[in-house]
Amino acid sequence: MHAMNHLAPHAIGKIEEDNIFKVGGKARQAKEQFGAENVVDGSIGILLDDQGQLALMSAVDTATNQLKREEYAPYAPIGGLPNFNEDVVSYLFGDHPTPKRAIATAGATGAVYQTVWNLLSVGDAFITHDYYWSPYRAIARNALRKLATFPTFTSEGGFNVAGALDEVRRSLAIQERALLIINVPCHNPTGMNLTAQEAQALRDGLVDLAKAEPNKPITLLIDGAYWEFEDAQKNKKLLDTFVGLPENLLFCVAYSISKSLTRYGFRVGSLIVSSDNRVIVDELIGTLTSSIRATWSNSPRIGQAVFSKIYRSPELSEQLLKEQQAFAKLCNQRGASFVAQADAAGLPHTPYQNGFFTILPTTEPQRIADKLAADERIFLVPMKKGIRIAFCALPTHQIDGLAKRIAAYF
Ligand SMILES: Cc1ncc(COP(=O)(O)O)c(C=O)c1O
Repeated sequence: MHAMNHLAPHAIGKIEEDNIFKVGGKARQAKEQFGAENVVDGSIGILLDDQGQLALMSAVDTATNQLKREEYAPYAPIGGLPNFNEDVVSYLFGDHPTPKRAIATAGATGAVYQTVWNLLSVGDAFITHDYYWSPYRAIARNALRKLATFPTFTSEGGFNVAGALDEVRRSLAIQERALLIINVPCHNPTGMNLTAQEAQALRDGLVDLAKAEPNKPITLLIDGAYWEFEDAQKNKKLLDTFVGLPENLLFCVAYSISKSLTRYGFRVGSLIVSSDNRVIVDELIGTLTSSIRATWSNSPRIGQAVFSKIYRSPELSEQLLKEQQAFAKLCNQRGASFVAQADAAGLPHTPYQNGFFTILPTTEPQRIADKLAADERIFLVPMKKGIRIAFCALPTHQIDGLAKRIAAYF
């Protein structure tokens, strides 16, 4: 016990053990001891190729090598390079009619953080699905906000639109404003996505709530950190659903080059805000710019410059697209093959469409994950409601038969 605690009360109790890195460390030890081929490491949230090496896109290397020093060494403007902001909007939204602007952020993490900080009051809660990327909780806590969750799935395995809308209604009643964060496509940690009907029902339900309470602001933030791992047309359709919204319903998207360009270490993302009222968009961007200035000052320049270098070169864009599609196929085929075998073996899993992960639901995640590690040298991450398996990290040849081996422990 310390005699003295220097931490202010709000800062006390933040330290949390990171389960993902802990399991990853154990898997690394096992690889050293038994050889990598005898270990199944489905813990890491980063895309590896079938040889276990980091899967990196060479179009991004080419673009990086083309940059002159003046293009990456100076500070970026606080709100991001104008070309980058324009290019992200045009890349993601194309001909989508609603006025919108983007601001460069410190990854999608920065985009989520700024949204939570600026669109909710201290003590308010933001809403997300009950399977969620755990830093959401850390962001809520660090920003002196709370997290409210709803069950992600209906009993039929669809996305629980009604649950999301109930929480928005509750937020409006309790705190006079609501922020709903939905992480699609390729949801971390289940791999679910919204069907076109679910997206439409969500849009219509939010519009109804907004119209019923015209003085209360509602924000929907789509966290699209895994954007290119889903089919581009489906993504476009998702964005095109969110049009014709009332003024008090704001539509935002968080984007990231971490997975999209395999530049996790560049720490660059974007927050795009969209509303039919340009004054609202401009005020938000101005506010976010000041807020970023006061948080991390300005976002790293190199990733922004690289994104635009590629986007503005037809050859590099074409090469990047091919590489993105190849990587998406690699990861999604591992996932599809695993869930097909899990179904055959009677191993439960959350509804999986595409993406890096899915969850194997159990009430004893820690015990089963420990046992799989000890008996089978299969390293998966125990989470609150199940065990997370990372298809992004598993070489294709290790997928075959894996579900059956795991099923024996459920
Ligand atoms: C759901 C989700 N959102 C956001 C992020 C953060 O991405 P970035 O590296 O751009 O901050 C991640 C990264 O793992 C993620 O899984």
